[in-house]
Amino acid sequence: MLATLLVAALTASSASAMAISPRASITEFTTSPVVFNFPPGREGFNASTASKAPCGNMTMGARANYPLTGGQISLSQTTAIDNLNIVYTNDKDPARFHAFSSFGAATVQDIGSGGYCTAGPDFAALGMAAGDVATLMVFYQLDGAETYYYHCADVQLVAESSFTKPSYTCANATDVQIAASNDTLSMSGWSSGMAPTATASSGSHASSSAAAAAASSSSTSTSRADRVVAGAGAVLAAVGAAMLF
Ligand SMILES: *[C@@H]1O[C@H](CO)[C@@H](O)[C@H](O)[C@H]1NC(C)=O
Ligand SMILES: *[C@@H]1O[C@H](CO)[C@@H](O)[C@H](O)[C@H]1NC(C)=O
Ligand SMILES: *[C@@H]1O[C@H](CO)[C@@H](O)[C@H](O)[C@H]1NC(C)=O
Ligand SMILES: *[C@@H]1O[C@H](CO)[C@@H](O)[C@H](O)[C@H]1NC(C)=O
Repeated sequence: MLATLLVAALTASSASAMAISPRASITEFTTSPVVFNFPPGREGFNASTASKAPCGNMTMGARANYPLTGGQISLSQTTAIDNLNIVYTNDKDPARFHAFSSFGAATVQDIGSGGYCTAGPDFAALGMAAGDVATLMVFYQLDGAETYYYHCADVQLVAESSFTKPSYTCANATDVQIAASNDTLSMSGWSSGMAPTATASSGSHASSSAAAAAASSSSTSTSRADRVVAGAGAVLAAVGAAMLF
């Protein structure tokens, strides 16, 4: 009986992933598997709540200065990661996933342990000014797993001319795989208090309507939407999953 179950499990796993490899479990980590080098991330990590949107249930601490324009986001990942996205909000204390919007950052489909460093939002182009506050959120899956995990960094914007860049590493792991732009997460947020009616910013392909469908259907769902989905759908399912918070 046990042997039958094992064979079934192995068959299922090899069919879905095309390879059997040891996978990391969130409970193996005592710090976030993906951390911010810059801007600095929220303190703390709890494997039991890391899958809680929007910030893994960690409270906001001090805000770091961050340039209004020209900023970078530098991450370090201690294990292989799938479907990593970075989004932002101008909400002063975001409590829901849908306070956040995409700013054009590519979706990282696959990356090994090491670094990931990319351009941050052009906050001026997003209508913000020096003195405004923002929160960046990274969400991702452990390699080959379904659950999304969330981590945040809180910033206060300063003019690029008065920003002193601290020392941090900015490098990409060599095996980084970036999603095609038409497979990259796109979502527009709304201010807290408004009705949750997600729209994707580009309406011309299947992913956009999938995002809207995931978001609207999950608002009446009562269970966590940890679904098995592939490609862009994996990213968009997170929109549905995180609606519950
Ligand atoms: C982690 O979160 C769980 C669930 O909320 C809680 O019971 C536990 O005390 C937390 N652990 C720490 C170290 O805060
Ligand atoms: C953490 O989770 C608890 C229980 O759901 C919630 O009451 C609390 O507001 C959360 N804290 C943060 C910072 O998200
Ligand atoms: C890392 O990859 C991203 C996405 O392709 C790219 O925008 C960024 O410039 C790369 N970073 C470095 C340090 O090469
Ligand atoms: C994305 O673009 C590629 C190449 O142009 C195309 O083959 C693919 O069908 C497109 N995907 C979607 C979801 O539109």
